[in-house]
This record gives sequence, C-alpha cells and structure tokens, in this order.
Amino acid sequence: MVRWRPADATTIVTGASSGIGRELAAQLARRGATIVAVARRAERLQQLQADAAAAPGAIIPMAGDLTDPTFRQQIIDRVQSISPRLDLLVNNAGIGGIGPFAEATPQRLRQIMEVNFFAPVELTRLALPMLRVASHPVICNISSVLGHRGVPGKSEYCASKFAIHGWSDALRAELASSAIQVTLVSPSTTASEFFDVAIETESAQSQHRRSAMSPASVARQAIRAIEKRRDEIVLSPGGKLLVYLDRCCPWLANRLIARFG
Ligand SMILES: NC(=O)c1ccc[n+]([C@@H]2O[C@H](COP(=O)([O-])OP(=O)(O)OC[C@H]3O[C@@H](n4cnc5c(N)ncnc54)[C@H](OP(=O)(O)O)[C@@H]3O)[C@@H](O)[C@H]2O)c1
Repeated sequence: MVRWRPADATTIVTGASSGIGRELAAQLARRGATIVAVARRAERLQQLQADAAAAPGAIIPMAGDLTDPTFRQQIIDRVQSISPRLDLLVNNAGIGGIGPFAEATPQRLRQIMEVNFFAPVELTRLALPMLRVASHPVICNISSVLGHRGVPGKSEYCASKFAIHGWSDALRAELASSAIQVTLVSPSTTASEFFDVAIETESAQSQHRRSAMSPASVARQAIRAIEKRRDEIVLSPGGKLLVYLDRCCPWLANRLIARFG
C-alpha cells in the first residue's frame, strides 16, 4: 500500500494559530515537512515558527482571513514560490456556534458557512492543480462527529460539517482515478480555544466542555490517517458510538439526543 510521507512534503495547514491546527503544523514540522501555516493572528503564527525552529521541517507563517478570496489566492501563490507541487492540504480552520437556531441571527449562519464550508472548498479548488502534480497527495478535511449526526443547539455548525462531509465524499469519488486522496477526520470535543470563540446565544453560555480530547492526540491520529491515506476516521469511543448508533438505529439515536443532547 502506498503511504503518504511527511519528510520533504510541501503542505498547507489552515487554522494553525491554535488548537488542532497548531499541533498538526508542529508535528508535521518535526517529521520534516514544510508547512504554510495559515490563520488571522500573525503573532501566534510567528510564535509557532519560533517554537519549531529546531525541527527538521519549516513553518512559513501566512496571516490573513480565509473568507477573503484574494487571501486564498495569496496562499497558493506563496506555496508556488516554494515548490511546484503541493503534497498535503489540511482544511482545519473552523468556528462554532452554540445556542438555539431560533435565537440566533442570520449573520451567524453566514459566518459559520463562510469559514467552515466555502473557504476550505474554494481553497481546495485553487490548490487542485498543484496537488495533481504531487505523487501521492492528500486533502485532509477536519470535520466533526457533528458532521455525521446533528445535535440541538449547534444547528449551523452541524450543517457546515455535514456539508464538508458530503463534499468530501463526492470529491473523493471524483478524484478516484487520480493520485489524490481525500481524508475526512471527525474529532469529538477537543480542549482548544474553539469554545472561547464560538458564536453563542445568551442561553447557551457555559453548557459546554465535558470530557475532551487533547489537540495533540487529535493531530497525531489525523497524521496517521493521512499517512495511511484513509478515507475517513471518527475519533474517540463516544464519537464512534454516536456515529454508528445513528447509522444502525437512527430512531434510538433520535430519542437519546432529544432527551440528553
Ligand atoms: N474543539 C472541538 O471540540 C472540535 C471538535 C470537533 C471538530 N473540531 C474542528 O476542528 C477544527 C479546529 O478547531 P480547534 O478545536 O482547534 O479550534 P481553535 O483552537 O479555535 O482553532 C481554530 C483555528 O481556526 C482559525 N480561524 C478561524 N477563523 C478563521 C478565518 N476566518 N481565517 C483564518 N483562520 C481562521 C483560528 O485562527 P485565528 O483566530 O488566528 O484566525 C484558529 O487557528 C475546526 O474545524 C473545528 O470545527 C473541533
């Protein structure tokens, strides 16, 4: 079986200023990859670069807003200045929204879909020509268990992750005759800044953060899935239980989520 190899790989990791994305970038740099690390907070990216200075790979900070089409093109231009090929694109940047749909604004839906769906999809469109010239490239989309099963209080977020899930499945099939693999990674609750910056309605404050995975563990498992060129992984026993219960016995999942979700 062909494996994806990080040594000397040219990669893009979005959302690299904190949480899962920061860990992904740091771990890939330790394995010898060059990472164009994308997020809005420039100082965080510079800190990541400094922390990874001794690693065999390299971090190249790229600060900007992924919802801006001009910035997305600048990311691709920057990669092209390093290498004619792109070996890995990790679409990780994302934001949450917590609280009932009926209490939320239309702007919340727009913002979540812009960051979690339109930005990664359009960045991928721009990246495809460079992925096509790599030998075993991977597009890794960081989705969520909530891209498999909807839960109350996170309707817009679930919708955005279902959209990424469906698009990933379709793109994987479209690219099946090429060398490009599409890997969908679905973490459960992870201890990051995600909940601090989620767009919340008032009644939603502080109903979050039960048991959480570490960003380092999520990143490790995502990189393993990339190396094995897996189609899809669901992380954590609770996440797997929810996804498979929903597939096998949706009526029971509906009842449990309505009661305890
Ligand atoms: N935490 C969880 O419980 C959990 C569970 C399942 C799935 N996930 C998914 O995992 C991914 C990473 O989340 P995380 O937990 O690591 O959250 P996080 O710590 O809040 O990281 C989110 C990253 O996205 C970046 N970002 C957000 N909006 C952006 C924009 N408009 N342009 C550029 N960068 C932007 C942020 O950087 P700046 O603010 O510097 O721009 C940050 O680096 C997300 O897709 C999330 O949906 C998270």
